[in-house]
Amino acid sequence: MRRPVRIAVTGAAGSIANNLLFKIASGEMMGKDQPVILQLIEVPQAMEALRGIAMELEDCAYPLLHTITLHDNVEDGFKGAHHALLIGSRPRGPGMERRDLLEINAEIFTRQGRALNDYANRDVKVLVVGNPANTNALIASRNAPDLSPCQFTALTRLDHNRAKGILANHTGACSKDVKNVIVWGNHSPTQYPDLHHANVLGRPALEQIDNNWYRESFIPTIQTRGGEIIKARGQSSAASAAQAIVDHMRDWVLGTDVGEVVSMAIVSDGSYGIAKGIIYSFPVRCDYGRYQIVQGLEISEYSRQRMTATEQELLDEKAMVEHLLPKEPEASHQELSTCIRSGVTLYADGTGPEANSKYLTTTRVM
Ligand code: NAI
Repeated sequence: MRRPVRIAVTGAAGSIANNLLFKIASGEMMGKDQPVILQLIEVPQAMEALRGIAMELEDCAYPLLHTITLHDNVEDGFKGAHHALLIGSRPRGPGMERRDLLEINAEIFTRQGRALNDYANRDVKVLVVGNPANTNALIASRNAPDLSPCQFTALTRLDHNRAKGILANHTGACSKDVKNVIVWGNHSPTQYPDLHHANVLGRPALEQIDNNWYRESFIPTIQTRGGEIIKARGQSSAASAAQAIVDHMRDWVLGTDVGEVVSMAIVSDGSYGIAKGIIYSFPVRCDYGRYQIVQGLEISEYSRQRMTATEQELLDEKAMVEHLLPKEPEASHQELSTCIRSGVTLYADGTGPEANSKYLTTTRVM
């Protein structure tokens, strides 16, 4: 049996986690041969509910679930974590402006970034789910100067999966027959679900659908799907979000299927002319625990406008929290090309980056 990996989860008593933790414990995320240690983190007032979830996990007697630990603070909860899923965040309250929401979450993600920097495994892979996810990831990353910005990602896989599912349904195909959809930009209604490179059963998707349907129905449906689900079921999407988290982490760690492209919000290295340093969703492929942006795609004028609109929203969000961000690690967010291409996952056999690499100090035990 392999050595267990440590997975820290914030918001662990919430709706998404309630769907997610059982998938992780059953091996859906890290593989059927990978034992896991769950380090579950909640706010103090939710610890009793969290204890209930831990009891249920225990009652499942999952063979791969090595240990569960419960924490009411991130400093303890992130200790030694190889993977950190940051799900808990402050929801928008009545009358709350976007700026207030960003600022309140900035406090939470500043603390989480510092704690990851000080306590997590040097190789930690971070996925931010709590909204506004892209900017929360930026804040956490900027507060973790000893970790590479490439270790911080945000979830747009749910949008990607939605695009696949809805396109499959519309064309009468199965979602497994849909390849290369792309979600660009922010996890928000400005995101751009792009079908220009997608194909269905090996043929270009845009040849099989009406352009009006694509622009007037498909795009807004993906952009506002979250709100529609809340309207229909009275609660936000939790099961599909949990599945998207599993997909995002599994692909990052174990690699994307051959020929498959997925969407991940990652720090921009300037690819496709997107401002460096923001956390923007790109088409990526993953292998050996690393991701790489798919390069060289042709971008139409229509796509460019959409990509710029969602980029602008992220730049505006960044401007709203800029005064709260530490200045010092900004440079590391601007000099990324080497870092993204070489990846950050390190190997104890010396095949990883040089020992004097800016981001190398491994404490990985596997
Ligand atoms: P929920 O309200 O059911 O659960 C959130 C949990 O986080 C609560 O138990 C709360 O006590 C906890 N929490 C809040 N602040 C915390 C902190 N500082 N440390 C640790 N725990 C904390 O919400 P749900 O449905 O689980 O959603 C969580 C977040 O995910 C929301 O921000 C939601 O908007 C976002 N989301 C993001 C998606 C994406 O695709 N990026 C998709 C769906 C939801």
